[in-house]
Amino acid sequence: MSTTDYAPPAERERWGSRLGLILAMAGNAVGLGNFLRFPNQAVQNGQGAFMVAYFVSLLLLGIPLMWMEWGIGRRGGHFGFSTCPGMFQSLTRAKWVKYAGAIGVVMPLLIVIYYVYIESWTLGYAVQSATGQLTGEDPGAHFTNYLGGDGGFLGRESLQGSWPAYTFFLVTMVVNLWVLSRGLSKGIEIIAKIGMPVLLLCAVALVARVLTLPDVEGRTALDGLAIYWNPSQWKALFDNGLANDLFNKGSAAIWLAAAGQIFFTLSVGSGAINTYASYLTRDDDIALTGLATVSTNEFCEVVLGGTLAIPAAYVFTGMDGVMSASSGNMGLAFITMPSVFEQTPIFGGEAGAGSIAILGTLWFGLLFVAGITSSLALSQPTMAFLQDTMGLTRRKAAMVVGLIILLFVQPVILMGGVLDEIDYWAGTFGLVLFSTVEVILFMWVFGSDRAWKEIHHGSDIRIPRLFKFLMTWVTPFVLLAMLFLWGRDEMLPILTFEAAPGGEYTETTRTGAYVGRTLMLALFAFFAILVGVAAKRGRFSAVEDLPAEEAS
Ligand code: PHE
Repeated sequence: MSTTDYAPPAERERWGSRLGLILAMAGNAVGLGNFLRFPNQAVQNGQGAFMVAYFVSLLLLGIPLMWMEWGIGRRGGHFGFSTCPGMFQSLTRAKWVKYAGAIGVVMPLLIVIYYVYIESWTLGYAVQSATGQLTGEDPGAHFTNYLGGDGGFLGRESLQGSWPAYTFFLVTMVVNLWVLSRGLSKGIEIIAKIGMPVLLLCAVALVARVLTLPDVEGRTALDGLAIYWNPSQWKALFDNGLANDLFNKGSAAIWLAAAGQIFFTLSVGSGAINTYASYLTRDDDIALTGLATVSTNEFCEVVLGGTLAIPAAYVFTGMDGVMSASSGNMGLAFITMPSVFEQTPIFGGEAGAGSIAILGTLWFGLLFVAGITSSLALSQPTMAFLQDTMGLTRRKAAMVVGLIILLFVQPVILMGGVLDEIDYWAGTFGLVLFSTVEVILFMWVFGSDRAWKEIHHGSDIRIPRLFKFLMTWVTPFVLLAMLFLWGRDEMLPILTFEAAPGGEYTETTRTGAYVGRTLMLALFAFFAILVGVAAKRGRFSAVEDLPAEEAS
């Protein structure tokens, strides 16, 4: 049987246009990771040294994995599959791979559970900036209050102050589900076509303001930019002692943080790229468009994301301020930035109420747009799985996705430690693990010659052959080395709840971790069972016995 004998189900969705696909993929990759996670990670994990490790990871891991996921995804789509269980099954006859593929449905779903919640804060803050509710507020107190006071919502005497966070969360959910239920070209693609230009405009306007900030006590925005680009720190990458002196952490930690950022920001290793790529047709180019996605994301991350928060914070608060703001996950965006805006003069006038209304709306609006185009991408694998593996309609699938998120977000909102636990397994470790599975399946089991051919089918460019070597040997071994280091240093204490990833548990966060981990396992088991049910019904039989040497 040749690949063309198998006609994909007629009703599968497709992208409406090449531009739409490019913008949707860019929207997938460009997200909160670019504007929130990147600056924090870079400053906390080696600054100039981080940037070197970051670009090395981009070259050895990010770009190769991006091409592979487009290749796996488009091939899967050709056989009528939009998610990894079927995609993996179309790479090899080994029956178990479809269960490994379930990770590529569950992981993005787990990420979106907390991602949508944070996205809803950005919507709340955009509205509050625009309506003057942030003006004259103490930003730290406002943020704590927005999130329900020190003890989380449960620790409050009355729930009165919590309604903004809950309301904006529900609004964010409804908008996401509405777009998802409109489908690919009428929903996701339209949002990307409007959202990406809006995002760029907001970002460019803010960058222009930050770069022309008047200096404060001699500190300029350019000095703030230099935090990322300090060559004197590069040696720390190869010198554990120096890295420890400079950054309080060894070189390995810097490399791991940089690689982790590459996975998260490019959306690779989760299954989300594969699903978007499955809506291509067989002859569409992936080599050039895949590279365009990477370039757009890197422009938005290094140039735009890098130039916003940190340089602005540096001008007003100095290096100490930058270090403390970036040490938490959210302080930089939700506390430091509003206070920076309040002190920023605009249009040649005085700083004050107008500045926070305008700059705050631009900033949080930008974050919201970046967030929603990514949360749609994170939800789409589950949507697609429920539709084309379980036979649900689009509306029903959107309802199920909504229900799962609503249910699972409750512990995330109500208990400390749950978010971090899910973020660690799904948003950090899981991306490395799943990438390893993918690269081994594609390059070694399916075979590097066929994989290379698959990626080049219909392509507009020829990828330098060096990348074939990297993809076959370097990418998998770097990933295996990362897993090995993890196994040696972290696995036992973390699996036994002895130590929290990157720190210590408190009583509360340990309980949160138990809850988070139980929920994750339950969700995985649920989807693995669904894959089994679908297999019983013969959903995968068309690809289960593809001839081993079936040419692509
Ligand atoms: N890349 C997105 C960001 O930078 C997050 C994301 C991760 C989206 C994995 C999809 C899959 O925010």
